[in-house]
Amino acid sequence: MQQILVVYYSQSGQLKDIVNQFVAPFQSAGIGIDFYSIEMEESFPFPWTDEAFFGAFPESFLQIPQPIKPIKQEFLEKEYSLIILAYQVWYLSPSIPINSFLKSTFAKDLLYNKPVITLSGTRNMWISSQEKIKLLLLENKAHLVGNIALTDKHANHISVLTIVHWLFTGRKDRYLGIFPLPGVSQKDIESASMYGKIALEYLQKDIYDQGLQKEIIERKGVIIKPFLLSAEYKANRLFRIWATIIYRNKYRRTLLKCFHLYLYIAIWVLMPIVWCFYWLTYPFFYRKIQKDIRKAESV
Ligand SMILES: Cc1cc2nc3c(=O)[nH]c(=O)nc-3n(C[C@H](O)[C@H](O)[C@H](O)COP(=O)(O)O)c2cc1C
Repeated sequence: MQQILVVYYSQSGQLKDIVNQFVAPFQSAGIGIDFYSIEMEESFPFPWTDEAFFGAFPESFLQIPQPIKPIKQEFLEKEYSLIILAYQVWYLSPSIPINSFLKSTFAKDLLYNKPVITLSGTRNMWISSQEKIKLLLLENKAHLVGNIALTDKHANHISVLTIVHWLFTGRKDRYLGIFPLPGVSQKDIESASMYGKIALEYLQKDIYDQGLQKEIIERKGVIIKPFLLSAEYKANRLFRIWATIIYRNKYRRTLLKCFHLYLYIAIWVLMPIVWCFYWLTYPFFYRKIQKDIRKAESV
């Protein structure tokens, strides 16, 4: 009997809901599924506090691993045909639990020479994180064969307001009773079973090449918004400066407060200005933007 392993981490349970939908077709086909939920030695709070949320920034962005509890021995002893890596993004990077797993010694054993499908549930800025995941998978000598990125499809600034409400209260309900629901919509969570069905066909054929990702893109499992792609590249450069200065700085707490203020200004003041400039100059960069989109969609 074929066996697959799902490696995941989820605070609110949103990603676990996505995973459950994704694996449903595998379960119906009688494929054995193991779930490995990454557990931190020191867990992150949910709902978040201000201090914990901003405090996670330097280590998330600089991809500094933190101790995780050892994986069950039985997972290391089994021979999996496929691994599903379900992850969320923290500060344009794989979340600390996912990064810590990918940098662990057991990830090396588990992922060696294995086909991997990445499945993410994020607000809407996941592209640079996926590039970082691609590198980590390469370091573990795994083969990325497919990627599905589910996001909050509401306007960027709306999703900022609603996700803050969700992450800081722990309630995935309407902010002030009037805003749309935060996070990945229920419809999109349920759509994950469609991608699971496609992935299952490829598992059964045991050939992935580029065909799987092509089908995922056609079925809108990956949607690239050009402005957000460009915003991510810019934000990455600035985040690197902030994270490098803050990490291990004796004024860390004060600097994190400055970063909090900076983030606020960047989102509410700078981003709308950059947005206008982006669309005014869009025709001049059209070819480059299309090339960047193809790269971000690919595995
Ligand atoms: C500290 C932190 C930083 C985050 N940064 C990003 C980000 O840069 N881009 C993004 O699209 N989502 C970001 N998110 C949202 C998460 O990717 C994810 O969608 C949300 O936390 C729900 O995940 P869960 O399944 O673990 O509950 C962030 C969330 C947290 C807690």
